[in-house]
Amino acid sequence: MEPRILMKLAEMFGTPLYVYDEDVIRKNYRVFLSAFKSLYKMTRILYAYKANSNLAICHILRQEGAGADVVSLCELRTALNVGIKPYHIIFTNNSKTEEEIEECIRAGVIINIDSMDELSIVNRIANKLGKRARISFRVNPSVNPKTNPKIATGLKESKFGLHIERGIALNAYRIAKEMENLEIVGIHTHIGSQITDVGVFEETTTKIMEFVEKLNNELEIRLEFIDLGGGLGISYKGEDVASPKILANRIVPILREYIDRINYEPELWLEPGRWIVGNSAVLLCRVNSVKETPYKKFVNVDVGFNAFMRSVMYDAYHRIYVVNKWNQINEETYDIAGNICESGDILAKNRRLPRIERGDLIAIMDVGAYGFSMSSQYNSRPRPAEVLIWGETVEVIRERETHEDLLRNQRVPKDLLE
Ligand code: LLP
Repeated sequence: MEPRILMKLAEMFGTPLYVYDEDVIRKNYRVFLSAFKSLYKMTRILYAYKANSNLAICHILRQEGAGADVVSLCELRTALNVGIKPYHIIFTNNSKTEEEIEECIRAGVIINIDSMDELSIVNRIANKLGKRARISFRVNPSVNPKTNPKIATGLKESKFGLHIERGIALNAYRIAKEMENLEIVGIHTHIGSQITDVGVFEETTTKIMEFVEKLNNELEIRLEFIDLGGGLGISYKGEDVASPKILANRIVPILREYIDRINYEPELWLEPGRWIVGNSAVLLCRVNSVKETPYKKFVNVDVGFNAFMRSVMYDAYHRIYVVNKWNQINEETYDIAGNICESGDILAKNRRLPRIERGDLIAIMDVGAYGFSMSSQYNSRPRPAEVLIWGETVEVIRERETHEDLLRNQRVPKDLLE
């Protein structure tokens, strides 16, 4: 994104502002899909809505042919509304209400089961509705994804999935097979996010495929899909990271080896979120003031961790640019301080940047995934607007929240008004 354009957008729409590039999203999707399709034709991407569920972005990815990995009823309804076929939607989470299960069954989407308790509830509700629920199990392969512990899900101690260990997952399939109102259609795993060591995906694929072979040989269960989840990391610092091509080259041969043995060909499903949208957006913010303490130089910007949480929550590194000083030399070291009243609200630490003044425009890079989608209204701050660069034009894809929006659902008991 050109600095000149970013400056113009900040003037037109104000700050803080999320700016997305439609072209980048489409390209990422195509690169990811073709890396796998060229080696395994029956590959399908189910975009992970939690990374960014803005309606416009979901429409773009539906146009590209993506299915959806959803985790709540709102995400489910969004996926259906943008036109994704129910059989390409998987509903995953570790804690589902009966209301959620019922809606999934009625809609005909795949319910990704996470516990034995849940299995019996799904069967009971399907029975009540006189329908067959299409199910898969989330399986925990006990693999350490070597990423931030907050986003590691495949660990043996994790809350997710049924363990392969001790025959737990196999037993789940055995029981499900006997249940009248269930149709077993797949297997799912997701070991974590921002994974940069491809070896852990190989380990996972091997464990899952061994298991799929067992399902075939011992229970005669044949699956429509094998869903290996998302998790491929992106480069936040400009460092080299494995591409989808490398990932595909490493895991598809493992898949093939087992598929040749089981003698049927399921679809391969993948659920990337970050890789599709992560580098498609920047967050623009304005410098309110610059302050030098005896220990540090702070740049106080007009955004905080309510609007962008990754730096604070995961100690994540995001590159920072001074948009109106793009080409100037870095001569100072700053902390970029958010406007939330907590000392932890530092968006970037010890960054070498050009000399900064009040009014400068800062861009926080690579915020397309888990940026807006994790935002809140903490400190009673309306959330930013989102705009999409689309060829030569720019579209607002989410209006900036207003103070009225924040107050709208609040009610004051009558007595308090006296
Ligand atoms: N599938 C499942 C079941 C998931 O739980 C996730 C992410 C994905 C797919 C997509 O993973 P991705 O390709 O985006 O890594 N808020 C954190 C990331 C949390 C990821 C949660 N699950 C962050 O900002 O780093």
